[in-house]
Amino acid sequence: MDREIEATLEALLDERRTFEPPEAFAESAFLNDPAVYSEAERDPDAWWASQAERLDWFQRWDQVLEWKPPHHEWFLGGKLNASHNCLDRHLARDGDRVAYHWIGEPGEKRTITYRALHEEVCRLANALKDMGIRKGDRVAIYLPMIPELPAAMLACARIGAPHSVVFGGFSAESLRDRINDAEAKVLITADGGYRRGDVVPLKANADEAVGQTPSIETVIVVRRTNENVPMQEGRDVDYADLVEQASPECQAEALDSEDMLYILYTSGTTGKPKGILHTTGGYLTGVSATHHLVFDVRPETDVYWCAADIGWVTGHSYIVYGPLANGCTSILYEGAPDFPDKDRWWSIIEEYGVSILYTAPTAIRTFMKWGPQYADKHDLSSLRLLGSVGEPINPEAWIWYQQFIGGGKTPVVDTWWQTETGAIAITPLPGITTLKPGSATKPFPGVFADVLDEQGHPVGRGGGGYLVLKRPIPSMFRTIYKDDARYRETYFGRYGDHIYFPGDGAKLDDDGYFWLLGRVDDVMNIAGHRISTYEVESALVDHPDVAEAAVVGRRHPQEGEAIAAFVTPKATRIGDEELAQELRAHVAKVIGKIARPHSIVFTEDLPKTRSGKIMRRLLRDVAEGRQLGDVTTLQNAPILDEIRSKANSLQGDEA
Ligand code: WT7
Repeated sequence: MDREIEATLEALLDERRTFEPPEAFAESAFLNDPAVYSEAERDPDAWWASQAERLDWFQRWDQVLEWKPPHHEWFLGGKLNASHNCLDRHLARDGDRVAYHWIGEPGEKRTITYRALHEEVCRLANALKDMGIRKGDRVAIYLPMIPELPAAMLACARIGAPHSVVFGGFSAESLRDRINDAEAKVLITADGGYRRGDVVPLKANADEAVGQTPSIETVIVVRRTNENVPMQEGRDVDYADLVEQASPECQAEALDSEDMLYILYTSGTTGKPKGILHTTGGYLTGVSATHHLVFDVRPETDVYWCAADIGWVTGHSYIVYGPLANGCTSILYEGAPDFPDKDRWWSIIEEYGVSILYTAPTAIRTFMKWGPQYADKHDLSSLRLLGSVGEPINPEAWIWYQQFIGGGKTPVVDTWWQTETGAIAITPLPGITTLKPGSATKPFPGVFADVLDEQGHPVGRGGGGYLVLKRPIPSMFRTIYKDDARYRETYFGRYGDHIYFPGDGAKLDDDGYFWLLGRVDDVMNIAGHRISTYEVESALVDHPDVAEAAVVGRRHPQEGEAIAAFVTPKATRIGDEELAQELRAHVAKVIGKIARPHSIVFTEDLPKTRSGKIMRRLLRDVAEGRQLGDVTTLQNAPILDEIRSKANSLQGDEA
């Protein structure tokens, strides 16, 4: 980094500055009176009901919350439809408003109005119905970031068929496992997608997956790259043909508030991903309320950009359901931030006058590394609010974001939440909250968060421990698909059925601000994405030349954590660079490129307790070049010295 910039940042950090909401911002914000917190605390059901009223209900609910710990249901008796709320209800007044400005990586542009999106969704919904898809049937979606992706989700929502979106970066095997767990009947995919100038072969992956998914009857193929992909007679159909032939009239089904909206798979501490199950009324209430109030969105004037991928929950909630429910105009960009050059995002912001940007710390740190000259080339003065999500944001990245992207004038909202919570749960309110760089600040109104110690006692201000939610929120998942026992065990095993344990460590400062400290389980956070150590280990030992493997997350300057693997090859194979390359490719094949280890250390043995449990904690110390923790329970302590000497070179490879 430039010396001058470095000095500015250091000065800012040294001041331990806090940031008041800019006066003009606070004045016009939807929320600028802190009384909202105490009101919501006094009567959370009334608060959430007032947020649910922002939606269109075919039939009003009789009861706001039924809490039978660890389960909870919201807006019981209410009937609504997510697709209707995201589309139909805007048509009369705002049908010509742009829903998405879409930008393809190679440079194409499409502008999709609410009216156009509505028509496409109705046609596709009819096509799905014609295929025999009925309420409750699951549809898998494996698409790049093209307008057909939100259209496909909303078409499913329109007829009450839960979707399961699988991130386009996942491998054929990951896709197969997710399809099989959900027993999806239809897969919607594309010939391919663009990423950093390359074509991602989605149809080839889909073909490989669908060879082993007995439930799939039909594969719908969007033409994106127009490459010549084989179409299997009787199974594969062309998306454009289908949509063209289907009727544009499709009544949205009146669904129960608790009908399933979607399943989204996320990593847990075992090799099997968890199907996080979201329902309709509570989820839509949560995402629309938080999108409205955390980003203080003005649908008439704002151009909003959540630069995540729709394949993750961030995209589900804050590219699709939240913004569309609020009738907002969004950017949808297909590709990489450095294609064709490192200023792609800033050129998009300038061209479209983006006013709200929501991204992840890993992206911000990467931009920091590239330097501010790329942003400097563009006029970013349209930005009025910045957001961050996915992992703890270090104060340095926070300040850089606010200074170099926000021009020093924008609030930065650091939002904590998870696939499970469905919507933002801990966050500043930009018209109220005094910001502290690095802190997600306070629970959103109606969210009851706390930090507990091992025994379940609140640590109080100044203390550190485990983050918990003491009361359900409407947007929260209902269970793990087909595995309620795992739901109970994973999230309520620690403190009992009334207290949700998200798996994060946290600290409360003297002002009661929350500082999130990262995962406390064997789940890594790689560039804002959740990957379990166990999944990567399983993929490694799946290779024929691997006897044993252990994986830990190691701090990484851009990506938050980097995947460090320790591998014992079988006696028949030498652990060399060639094997390392093979293993990286193997993990990419089994899980996807995002799960490839950054470093692989080959070792004859792994540090184990006397009962044979691998001590990942010690490997993490080794990977980060730290003093080793307690080694007294090890059965094979000398192996650590050997591993350490081999691992010494890890630190230097990523400045
Ligand atoms: C985990 C959830 C929520 C969408 C993206 C990730 C971490 C998320 C923050 C934040 C500190 C954060 C937590 C959480 N996390 N946002 N603002 N500050 N940590 O969704 O894959 O479900 O991961 O991401 O560890 O548990 P996810």
